[in-house]
Amino acid sequence: MSPQVELEDQSPAAFCAWLGDVGIRRFYLVWDDETGGVRASHPALEPLACLLRDDRRDFDRHEGVFVQVAPDIGVLQAAFVHRTCRGQGAGGVRFWRYDTVEGFLRDGLRLARGMTHKNALAGIWWGGGKGVMAQGTGRAGDPSSRRRIYEEYGELITSLQGCYVTAEDVGTSVTDMAAVFSRTRFTTCIPPGLGGSGNPSVPTARGVVRGMEAALAHLGRGTLAGKTVAVQGLGHVGEPLLGFLRDKKVTRVIGSDIDPSRGPALAALFPGLDLEVRIVERGDNSILAQPADIVAPCATGGVLNPRTIPAIQAPIVCGAANNQLEDPERDDALLQEHGILYLPDFLVNRMGIVNCADEQYGYVDPDPRIESHLGDAWDNSIYNLSLQVLAESRSTGATPARVALDLAERRSLDLHPVWGHRGAQIIRSLVGGGWDKA
Ligand code: NAI
Repeated sequence: MSPQVELEDQSPAAFCAWLGDVGIRRFYLVWDDETGGVRASHPALEPLACLLRDDRRDFDRHEGVFVQVAPDIGVLQAAFVHRTCRGQGAGGVRFWRYDTVEGFLRDGLRLARGMTHKNALAGIWWGGGKGVMAQGTGRAGDPSSRRRIYEEYGELITSLQGCYVTAEDVGTSVTDMAAVFSRTRFTTCIPPGLGGSGNPSVPTARGVVRGMEAALAHLGRGTLAGKTVAVQGLGHVGEPLLGFLRDKKVTRVIGSDIDPSRGPALAALFPGLDLEVRIVERGDNSILAQPADIVAPCATGGVLNPRTIPAIQAPIVCGAANNQLEDPERDDALLQEHGILYLPDFLVNRMGIVNCADEQYGYVDPDPRIESHLGDAWDNSIYNLSLQVLAESRSTGATPARVALDLAERRSLDLHPVWGHRGAQIIRSLVGGGWDKA
């Protein structure tokens, strides 16, 4: 097997062992403007630089990817910094299981690029970044080692001198974020007891409702009152979503979850709502085919694909889950072919990161900043921006996701009004200062 195949196809655990054998504890892969290529900190990692360079979808000139095998627990940890024109790369840290090094890298690239677009559309002066840690590597297991994993992650973030600001994401809790915070100031989503904003899921659910309302208004279908909504995933976002839908006088909600504890107990929390909860097997996407006015994917990504889209009966898909399209180009086009209006996740699920971004500026209750994103007065609110995107989509024939992506791309290149492209400067200083050897 060639060295290139070996590296990207290795399991993260085997890769960590190999890094140990060749004496690499930290490495980077950075975009080199001069050569227009990807520079690896170590010649042995050139195959991974090639993998990124040849990627046509998610790499998209990532400014820097910084990876370490955590010195104490040995977990494979990385920070992906996509674009920092608008400010520090910002996005949550995901602790997830990956089969291969390629899967690990691709997930980080895709998620960090998505954060660039989400932050730019939300009007936040942040760029895009993401943290990824590989389950099944290192000595993870008991609660004390879990805390240490996140402390070591915080140490990695501190070493990056502020080009990336982390937050909570799938597989990570607010408690974990407290451990990160004990080692770095470059984090958000920490517990309220430590001055953070805590779990952002409630405003996220409110934002998704605003997206739904814009889609209905655009199609001339009135308000949410009297409608049927199918919700996949009744977790942190899905649960409060039920309450907001009830408040909007939705007639019926069909929800699905893979966790049996989300069943009858949940129905009892929302008296007055005609709620049917279906407990399904992992990978069961039948809820998407439910006759409804709106389908809201609020569980995992990749659920909109050629296997599910032809069965969707609802005219609108609008939910919180990140990266709902399995293949962004193919599945976006397929939804349009089937006459389904899809409001992209990065347009409507912004409130989580908005909550985090505002953390550093203190709190007001109720917060006019938060309300401006959720109201009708600001032209960049979720509702108004969704209407604007949908109107442009109608007039140009481009899908809403394409219109939103093009707008996000343009905005993501705007330079921070005070700090300019400082993230790129920081990355150059990390590389010049031998970050990989520290
Ligand atoms: P969560 O993990 O609390 O809830 C997800 C729920 O989906 C869980 O109850 C899980 O059992 C269920 N689930 C998983 N697979 C399923 C399937 N095939 N069918 C039905 N249910 C399934 O996650 P959370 O925080 O509610 O987030 C949901 C989605 O929204 C995720 O994709 C997340 O990345 C995204 N998101 C969340 C934000 C937030 O503020 N929490 C912000 C932006 C995006």
